[in-house]
Parts: sequence; C-alpha cells; structure tokens
Amino acid sequence: MSLINLFHDHLSERMRWIATALEATGFNTLIISSGEPFTYFADDQEAPFNTNPHFRHYCPLEGPHHVLKLQAGRKPLLIRYAPEDFWYEQLPLGNPFWLEMFDLVEAPTLDAVWEVVGKPNRGAYVGNELVRAAGAELVLNPASLGSYLDWGRALKTPYEVACTEEATVLGAKGHEAGRKAFLAGASELEIHYAFVQAVGCLDHELAFASIVALDEKSATLHYEKKRNFREGRVLLLDCGARHLGYPSDITRTHLKDSCDARFRALRDGMEKLELELCDEVVAGRPWGQVHHLAHLKIGALLREAGILKAEPEEAVAKGFTRPFFPHGLGHFLGIQVHDVAGKLASPDGTIQPPPAEHPYLRTTQTLAPGHLITVEPGLYFIPMLLRPFREGEHASRFDWKQIDELTPLGGIRIEDNVLVTEAGPRNLTRKHLPA
Ligand code: GLY
Ligand code: MN
Ligand code: MN
Repeated sequence: MSLINLFHDHLSERMRWIATALEATGFNTLIISSGEPFTYFADDQEAPFNTNPHFRHYCPLEGPHHVLKLQAGRKPLLIRYAPEDFWYEQLPLGNPFWLEMFDLVEAPTLDAVWEVVGKPNRGAYVGNELVRAAGAELVLNPASLGSYLDWGRALKTPYEVACTEEATVLGAKGHEAGRKAFLAGASELEIHYAFVQAVGCLDHELAFASIVALDEKSATLHYEKKRNFREGRVLLLDCGARHLGYPSDITRTHLKDSCDARFRALRDGMEKLELELCDEVVAGRPWGQVHHLAHLKIGALLREAGILKAEPEEAVAKGFTRPFFPHGLGHFLGIQVHDVAGKLASPDGTIQPPPAEHPYLRTTQTLAPGHLITVEPGLYFIPMLLRPFREGEHASRFDWKQIDELTPLGGIRIEDNVLVTEAGPRNLTRKHLPA
C-alpha cells in the first residue's frame, strides 16, 4: 500500500479514537499545537525544536506554532503558522502527500493562528502554548483526555509501522558504518560521525543522543560523551534514525578479536537470549513476565560463566541478577523513543506501577496486537551496583576475581524493535540488521 493510503487509514483510525476520547471525557473539540520553542535561560539561543509528539501523531508537519483543530466527524483543520522571515528560512509547504487529508489555513502571525482557533465550546488543549490556549478558554492539558490519547498511541497503525521500518533501514546503515569504523580503530567521536554520515542527517535529527561507548563506558547506560580514545575492545552502539518523526532504537555490542574470550562468551550468550526473548513478544503476555524471564536467562548465563554461584531461580529471587541487569527489558516505541502508555492499565488513566524490585521497568502493560516494543536485555559490570553485594552476606555467591577482570570491558546490550501481531512477533530490526 502507498504511503498516502497508509496515512489516510492512519488518520481515519486516529479520528475514530479521538471521537471516543472526546465523548468519554466530556469535550467537544481538541486543539493541539506543535509547540513553542524553548530558549535557554538568560540567552537568545534556542534548543533544537522538537514538535509536540501529540501533534506529530496526526500530522507530519514539522516546526513550531502550528495548530490542529480536531472534532468528531469533521475533517481535521490544520492552521499552519507561516510567517515571512529574513532571519530564518521558512520553507513553503509545497504539496506533501498528507495534505489532502486536512482543511488548511495559512496564518502569518500568532494572533492570526489563534484567531482561527477561536473559542471552541468545551474545548481541550494539548501542548505548551498555555497563554494562548488559556486566552482561547480551553481546558489546558486535561489528564483524563491525555490518558485516552496515550492509550490510543500505544496501538500502532500500519502507517506508523512503515515509518518505523524506514527509520530502521536508515539506522541499520548507521550501525553498519559504526561497526566498520570501530573495527578499523576509530574513536567514539569518529564512530558517531560515521553513523551520522551514513544516515545523512544532523545530530539532533537522530532518534536520540547517540550512545557510542567503548570499553568501561558501555556500563554507563546512557553514556553520551564522545572520547578520542581509539583502543576500545568493546563497542556498545545504541543509536537510531528517524523517518517522518518516527524513530528506530537499535543497540549492538561489537568486539575486537583482542577482547577477552570470557566477555565474548557473555556477548554471544546475550545475543542468543535476546533472540529468544524477541520470540516472547506475543499478544496476551504481561510484559513484566517477559522481563522476569530475561532475569532468569541472564542468571543462567552468569551461572554458566561461573560469575554467579546460584541457580537462576534463586539468583533472581535474591536479587543477584539486578546489579548486572538494572534496567527494564524494553519500552514502547512510537512517535517518541520512550513512548507513552507503558504503565497504563486502561484508557481511563489507571496506572499499573512496576513491582518494587524492578523500579525502572517502563512497561507493565499486557501485550496486544499493534504494540511496538523494544527488547533490550543488558549485562553490565557496574561497580556502584555490585558494591553492596561485595560487602553483603551473599558475597561468596559471586566470583569477584572474574568480575574485577571483566569490569574494564564495561557491558553488553542488544536491542531490537518488535511488533506484536495476531500472527506472532515481527522483528523490525533483524530484517535490516541481522547481527
Ligand atoms: N536508547 C535508549 C534506550 O534504549 O532506551
Ligand atoms: Mn536504545
Ligand atoms: Mn530502547
């Protein structure tokens, strides 16, 4: 199906959900603006602009101050902020594939934008242009409606999957370039540039700040610095690209031949168990169960390596695997990298919190067809998390000599993006980046 047809079905589906959401929460009109840019304190410099994800979900138009007016049974109205400007380039709209699905008004000033918005009866507003929205007598960011919107966003349409897949094609190119640069002896900075060049975008157009970590830095989960150090034996590369606003989120851990054979065995074990976990992305399964299974598998791998002296069930029950795998197994992926609704139990906003022993689990939902989730088990040597065990009553259940010898190599993470379908898991990443 062409992108235009996919988008048509996407927007129709979204508008049906909007009608349900407005009815359930007592509103008549939803106003969403693309957002106001953020200026640093005491400065005239702006942060790179990120369009309000709720806006992007309905309309691929980028840039600040545009407004959508959405009502049940009506064609969506797009009010495009289109100033004349000689400081910054203002590109003409042209004729993008999605345009015919909207009524369009072009407004040269903010006053003109909000004049078109008017003062809708029982209107809700989602965005950060609060002064303007209050002037339009809208209810600002109502939580009840927000939960409905988030719940709907967790169920991806074929258009969204196609966008993520295109972002995956680009991300895979970046990963291949990064892997080759690493094996040729590049630094973190050079690997980052190899990735960006292969994708063909600006840094801030990546899916998120790239994680390019050599050796011990790979044990810092969101390491963002880029060193000139070149002698890395381990590369953890967690980076993705975007297409029409939709990101891919991919991690690979590569090793040079000079890497310790025990670390290589752990990496190969993680590769195998990550693929097994991808097979568990099936409708009806609570994500917390898959996360628990990941701990059991990592416990078995650590047992086999001799790093833990406990059977997996006991290791997990006593928390021995947690310092090695301290984050959640995965998160919803959508128009945001860490997408919304992971902990929603229903559209009415009921939250299902993570269990106390897994506070960083971002997703507690039960998987359903249309959910798109990352599967990203990790195994790291993080001194601050291991210290309480080294000093605690269970110290003898760990091989501290081996842990100390492997700590300079950092850690391992492998991450794919997997769609839940009626027919089972669909791994969007491996098709384009097999290893
Ligand atoms: N790139 C951040 C994450 O994988 O969640
Ligand atoms: Mn990632
Ligand atoms: Mn991720």
